[in-house]
Amino acid sequence: MRDFDETTITEAVLIRVRGASDARVRRVSEALVRHLHAFIREVEPTEAEWEWGIRFLTETGHLCSDTRQEFILLSDTLGVSMLVDAINHRLPGGATETTVFGPFYVPPPHYPIGAAINGHLQGCPMYVSGTVRSTAGRPLEGATVDVWHADQEGFYDLQKLDEHPELAGRGRFVADADGRFHLWTIRPSPYPIPHDGTVGKMLKAQDRHPFRPEHIHFLIEASGHRKLVTHVFAAGDAYLDSDVVFGVKDSLVREYVRHSGGTAPGGEAMQGEWFSLHYDFSLAVDPSSGPVRNDRL
Ligand code: BEZ
Ligand code: FE
Repeated sequence: MRDFDETTITEAVLIRVRGASDARVRRVSEALVRHLHAFIREVEPTEAEWEWGIRFLTETGHLCSDTRQEFILLSDTLGVSMLVDAINHRLPGGATETTVFGPFYVPPPHYPIGAAINGHLQGCPMYVSGTVRSTAGRPLEGATVDVWHADQEGFYDLQKLDEHPELAGRGRFVADADGRFHLWTIRPSPYPIPHDGTVGKMLKAQDRHPFRPEHIHFLIEASGHRKLVTHVFAAGDAYLDSDVVFGVKDSLVREYVRHSGGTAPGGEAMQGEWFSLHYDFSLAVDPSSGPVRNDRL
């Protein structure tokens, strides 16, 4: 076949990729060609615009390294990460909802329940407590709870390793016999995602801000249950309805309760302002045959 034109090129490519022997490759390739060609038909790019698009993707690739993944940011800011998350976590009622993983996770140091994880991070003290249960309400003793969050200026420890080579604002806890855990840290803040690259250029061109509302990340694992990747967002945050990565769900918003002096839950005498946050997590049972797992985790 030859002499393709606007009206015949799409079908010609589809016929070609339908020759793939692997059914999944066939399905993905066909969908890719159909949607890509539909996009081009809708947008009708000039040749200069198409070249610009290729350069944008090339630059995005060049920005990726061991410590930066601009393509994940692109997927996050276009809502694709949350769509993939939703498709892969069609959970039963009562299970804590999931949200985007983000690029700032590393396996954290282990701490005993009650420890402080803020390290060199300065800020307003915050007491974080929670429970881990099955959706049936059974405490999940031994569940591992990884916690990580930004500092009061909105930076993760990984973004300031030149200044402070040690990890801070992250830790792993093991839930006790009642499925409980608690820790001390400092209150984080809303922050902009890295926007000095191609994703930042895209956001600017789209007249969008780069901010995420204040949140604390949790990754919780318990045997026989589905891994839970989620955040708990601060109620009242100005960015809850415009999170740049579309990660907010109502069920994940909680009051970061303000206190002044008094006695903390662990009996500590407190001076000045401090905060507390509590969240009860519910993990879904791991189905023996379920939807495709999220490869990022
Ligand atoms: C985060 O919450 O850490 C995050 C998520 C998506 C993109 C950038 C940061
Ligand atoms: Fe974050």
